[in-house]
Amino acid sequence: MGKVHVLDHPLIQHKLSYIRDKTTGTKEFRELVDEVAALMAFEVTRDLPLEDADIETPVGPARVKKLAGKKLGLIPILRAGIGMSDGILNMIPAARVGHVGLYRDPETFKPIEYYVKLPNDIEERELLVIDPMLATGGSVVEAINSLKKRGAKNMRLICLVAAPEGVQYVQEEHPDVDIYLAALDEKLNEKGYIVPGLGDAGDRLFGTK
Ligand code: URA
Repeated sequence: MGKVHVLDHPLIQHKLSYIRDKTTGTKEFRELVDEVAALMAFEVTRDLPLEDADIETPVGPARVKKLAGKKLGLIPILRAGIGMSDGILNMIPAARVGHVGLYRDPETFKPIEYYVKLPNDIEERELLVIDPMLATGGSVVEAINSLKKRGAKNMRLICLVAAPEGVQYVQEEHPDVDIYLAALDEKLNEKGYIVPGLGDAGDRLFGTK
């Protein structure tokens, strides 16, 4: 079963309060999501393996630590995942970025894939799958299915806010994927919004309605 990590760092929690507030406008919302995403990247990568390396500083030889193990890849799920990718890339600038686009069929409500563009070595990378809102979990589960179908083996999921229903669905369908959240909220409402949540993340990020 994938672990759920709720990142309770005070800076993440403080900024999330402003992200949730309905009086926060688009510019500030976008900046705050960026900042929280960067702080989350810091916590999500805390257990990455290091290896010793020998270098020369201007003063003399030094044994230092460098990242070892798998290279990283970011996979924002379109469209709202884009809002978190720059913040994470600021922390991990060498990561490759792939995109998965899904829309909800208006009749069946099933997520349908309409766009996938990935680095060609995803099977060798540790992938950070990004979607700010984990509501029913339908799109995230489908995006991870799609990545696995194309060879992805190691994934972590990063969301700002989740509903218990979405967490449970991802854990059932993808027990190998750990989930990193800034908050685990109460429930979904009848329209599929997370309560209390923050509203429609895509609309608030991009200023659409
Ligand atoms: N997607 C959003 O953007 N917000 C929600 O509350 C649920 C899904």
